[in-house]
Amino acid sequence: MEKVAKIAKRRGFVFQSSEIYGGLSSCWDYGPVGIELKRNVKEAWWREMVRQRDDVVGLDCSILMHPRVWEASGHLAGFTDPMVDCKKCKERFRADHIADARCPEKPSKRPGECGGELTEARQFNLMFKTFMGPVEDSAAVVYLRPETAQGMFVNFLNVQNASRQKMPFGIAQIGKSFRNEITPGNFIFRTREFEQMEMEFFVKPGEDDQWYEYWVQERYEWYVRYGIRREHLRLRPHAPDELAHYAKGCSDVEYEFPFGWAELEGIANRTDYDLKKHAEYSGKDLSFYDDESKERFVPYVIEPAAGADRATLAFLVDAYDEDVAEGEERIVLRFDPRIAPVKVAVFPLLRKEGQPEKAHEIVDLLKRRWVVQYDQAGSIGRRYRRQDEIGTPFGVTVDHQTMQDGTVTLRDRDTMQQDRISLDRLVEELQKRIEP
Ligand code: GAP
Repeated sequence: MEKVAKIAKRRGFVFQSSEIYGGLSSCWDYGPVGIELKRNVKEAWWREMVRQRDDVVGLDCSILMHPRVWEASGHLAGFTDPMVDCKKCKERFRADHIADARCPEKPSKRPGECGGELTEARQFNLMFKTFMGPVEDSAAVVYLRPETAQGMFVNFLNVQNASRQKMPFGIAQIGKSFRNEITPGNFIFRTREFEQMEMEFFVKPGEDDQWYEYWVQERYEWYVRYGIRREHLRLRPHAPDELAHYAKGCSDVEYEFPFGWAELEGIANRTDYDLKKHAEYSGKDLSFYDDESKERFVPYVIEPAAGADRATLAFLVDAYDEDVAEGEERIVLRFDPRIAPVKVAVFPLLRKEGQPEKAHEIVDLLKRRWVVQYDQAGSIGRRYRRQDEIGTPFGVTVDHQTMQDGTVTLRDRDTMQQDRISLDRLVEELQKRIEP
């Protein structure tokens, strides 16, 4: 993890938030390369979950919602973690994570075994509060959403009326969520501000089990399709005592991070709980009339809920590799070309003979489709190393021969093979290799 965090900072994937002021705990900024990586992860999700399907539509809800939403969803009363404080060092810990926690003053000991006394466990609500409007009183309290899911439930009728979907159908959203986590950590794995990629799939009761199985498999395979190694992924069905009281089933897709197996995404059968609760609190009828079967019912919901930052971290960790290339040790990020932040780097071999101008022409051509970098600084070996470290899958070199016959060399990051190809065929050849 340290190696990944180091290269992430050096190469512009992720920086500590407000670093020049000493940083803000658990908040991170995506740099020029990191933002492209995260966008590609979100686009891969959106493409497969929305664009390529007839039965899912998209939504983008506001982060601040009516406070009654959080009463109905149960977040106001129940979105809590038990926490304890150390009376000696004043540090706060999750009571249910004590076994894995370390005393900040004596890291070889657990809290409570270090000479410090722990308080009784208290419930701590994880929602961030703020005020709407100029008056800071209890009537003005609003919350930063702790999940995107509720936006889909409260828009069920709107979307239904506007898009006239037949059952089963889904509503998907990517957006920021906020949780005042007691113990954030592991780089961008658990933070207080993060992005979720969630989809609520509404089905007829009785068809929920089969759709639950479908989405569990589908979501697991999505990570594999975009390059995560199967041996680093597993599905973990929740034990009955782990399930939320309203859930009929839940499985996590877990990834083997350097700090152990941890959740990337949860797929849950939430039954008809959410729509029924919102119907009760809003007084609106959130049932569905099925034209074909002439039945009216409150749909069940299957929810694949993923974290964009966690997925980005998994792609980063899984891509990280060290080997020897062209006689030098290198760090290389072996991203699937669709996930790679930069697809192609273009290098003039020499800064003369019109090679830089030709290379710029090629950049202008490729930039219409892909994120492309131009690099003329330093030896060609150093330039390859820099691109390997951000995981650029392809390098195009303009050399003396280019100026004679209009061919360039195309280097593959993984095999390091260089093929000489005609400039006329470059776009077509790259297209084949980037999205086969
Ligand atoms: N609507 C259901 C829901 O929000 P969740 O398991 O609490 O379920 C879904 O969250 C996903 O959101 C998690 O699997 C994880 O990827 C991501 N996530 C949750 N809390 C997070 C945090 N503090 N930091 C980063 N990602 C988080």
